[in-house]
Amino acid sequence: MGAAALKRIQIERGDLTAYAGDAIVNAANESLLGGGGVDGAIHRAAGPELLEECRGLRGCPTGEARITRGYRLPARRVIHTVGPVWRGGEHGEAELLASCHRESLRLAVEHGCRRVAFPAISCGVYGYPLERAARVAVGSAASFLEGDATLSEVVFVCFGEDARAAFAAALQELRSAR
Ligand code: APR
Repeated sequence: MGAAALKRIQIERGDLTAYAGDAIVNAANESLLGGGGVDGAIHRAAGPELLEECRGLRGCPTGEARITRGYRLPARRVIHTVGPVWRGGEHGEAELLASCHRESLRLAVEHGCRRVAFPAISCGVYGYPLERAARVAVGSAASFLEGDATLSEVVFVCFGEDARAAFAAALQELRSAR
């Protein structure tokens, strides 16, 4: 894994809605009509116009991503992606989670975003075990960055200390494997 790619990945602890980069990624559901967790926090912070725009998108399949404006959020854009529900690991969950990150970053680049922040997708309501999700998430972001010269930073903003530690360990694993 190239050093340049890994240098652009950061792990932070905090509230994703406060991220002031170009885009934040929402851990949505297939309806795109809001929910709890980080989805709820993003819609509360963005205001009602976000839901209006989401209605027009008519949903999003698991593993894919859609982009909207950020409205009252500091971030200019919200990229909505739908992570897999954890069902034991034998139902393509890892590939779907990797696809969420790849597709979100592809959309970010397409829309000229250079600084993007992710939550720990699928690690809450959707039950994906933290350590496994962190490896897939950081690994797929790093692979994308290997072939990209547009993004200047990809930040994983973790709400809890357990998530932060899991993502930091996953990144460290990649760095020492280089
Ligand atoms: N900032 C950063 N991370 C957050 C925030 C926040 N403000 N709020 C929650 N999180 C973290 C959770 O602690 C968890 O680690 O986001 C991670 C993802 O958890 P969920 O939000 O539950 O998302 P997910 O597991 O992907 O489930 C998606 O939940 O909210 C509904 O509509 C959503 O149906 C969808 C499902």
